[in-house]
Amino acid sequence: MACRIIAFVNQKGGCGKTATTVSVGSILAERGKKVLLVDGDPQQHTTLSVGVNPYRIEHSLYEAMLDPRQFGYEKVRVKTAYENLDLLPATDNLYAVDLDLASAMNRDGRMERLLKPAIRHYDYILIDSPPALSLLTINILNAAKEIFIVLQAHPHSYLGLEMLLQTVEQVKENINPKLRITGLVLTIFDTGTNVSKRIQEKVQLDDRVSEFLFQTVIRKNITLANSTMALEEEYEGVPVFLGKPINHYDRHSNSSKDYHKLVDEIIQMELDGS
Ligand SMILES: Nc1ncnc2c1ncn2[C@@H]1O[C@H](COP(=O)(O)OP(=O)(O)O)[C@@H](O)[C@H]1O
Ligand SMILES: [Mg+2]
Repeated sequence: MACRIIAFVNQKGGCGKTATTVSVGSILAERGKKVLLVDGDPQQHTTLSVGVNPYRIEHSLYEAMLDPRQFGYEKVRVKTAYENLDLLPATDNLYAVDLDLASAMNRDGRMERLLKPAIRHYDYILIDSPPALSLLTINILNAAKEIFIVLQAHPHSYLGLEMLLQTVEQVKENINPKLRITGLVLTIFDTGTNVSKRIQEKVQLDDRVSEFLFQTVIRKNITLANSTMALEEEYEGVPVFLGKPINHYDRHSNSSKDYHKLVDEIIQMELDGS
């Protein structure tokens, strides 16, 4: 199978991008797929969520994007505690990448170049993205072949969809014609009220995105939030909370079940040839 390179995208924060990237990646790895997670967010949430302490990392995505000759992906990649699950970690200097690359050559193709040699080693490269439409995001959209839109099943999230679709169109036209939106996942789905259900119905009828919508919704569930502080470590007197992917944290939770169902659909896409 050719490596699938999927970016999990939404310029809005707090909609479940990181939870989805990490959960999907970890479950794919558990099922024997070779997975590389790329933490494309300076907030380092993916790095933390798979139990890697950013303070203990020597080189990160930032160095690899700034100085690709010296820092190939192999120098930056770390193994997680989980079989088949590797990580290109973020550290907080990634906040500076937009500025530092502003006048650099090939500034929007840095991540693509970085990932190229990784492609033959992995079945899936999953890229988490920042809550912004920045140069870093453009690098991510340029490196990816597929986009999964992560949308909180809430009316305020629905509004940002148009902006996101426009950005994707621009990237397609100008730098990455092969890019395709192949998935939209509704997250933080509140089964206790009608609100999420109504948003789901809207998306189902929305010609811009209805064909990409996954059947599985990710229900709102506190276990997912708890899994992000499964472990606590001290670093130079400061507590650092590290997470465990949901399938390892509580495999019987609704969250774990929902993400397993989503992964079933994602793997089915391989068979359908998309
Ligand atoms: N389905 C869910 N149910 C409950 N809490 C969730 C769910 N998905 C994510 N969260 C929590 O909501 C917050 C934001 O999620 P996160 O994945 O970090 O969003 P993003 O990466 O888009 O900013 C986190 O604290 C996360 O643990
Ligand atoms: Mg995030």
